[in-house]
Amino acid sequence: MKRCSLTYSSPVAIARIAALLAALSLVMHTRAPANDLADRGQALAERLCASCHAIGRSERSPIASAPAFRRIEPRVDLEQMVERLQDGLIAGHPEMPVFILKDDEARGLVAYMKSLRDL
Ligand code: HEC
Repeated sequence: MKRCSLTYSSPVAIARIAALLAALSLVMHTRAPANDLADRGQALAERLCASCHAIGRSERSPIASAPAFRRIEPRVDLEQMVERLQDGLIAGHPEMPVFILKDDEARGLVAYMKSLRDL
């Protein structure tokens, strides 16, 4: 019977460790570092915004009237932008669709835009 308890205890231990790791990765995920946030913002910008705006370091906007994201300041206050993105962006410009983003999406997008400041 000793062998029995050994074979049973080790999967339990492994399950505990796995649960611990899962909890840990969850914590790390919810406290995503700024870079991670900006990366997701970049992915979102590529998907939603890049058809009109230049979102990178040097290219031109596909739509000439859409400002390049790296030049969006000082025209747009990025500190207010997180809320504006959640309320439904933005310009009230007929060429620009209305986007209503979730909190983490909005924060990601703004983090990405802020990262362009340093280029
Ligand atoms: C279909 C084209 C199109 C798409 C897609 C688009 N935009 Fe725009 N956007 C424009 C145009 C055109 C303007 C210029 C509006 C103006 O001058 O009034 C603009 C202006 C802006 C401005 C400046 C607004 C202001 O108050 O001056 C911001 C910020 C902006 N867009 C962000 C975004 C973000 C973020 C996305 C993606 C989530 C996005 N846009 C997607 C066309 C677009």
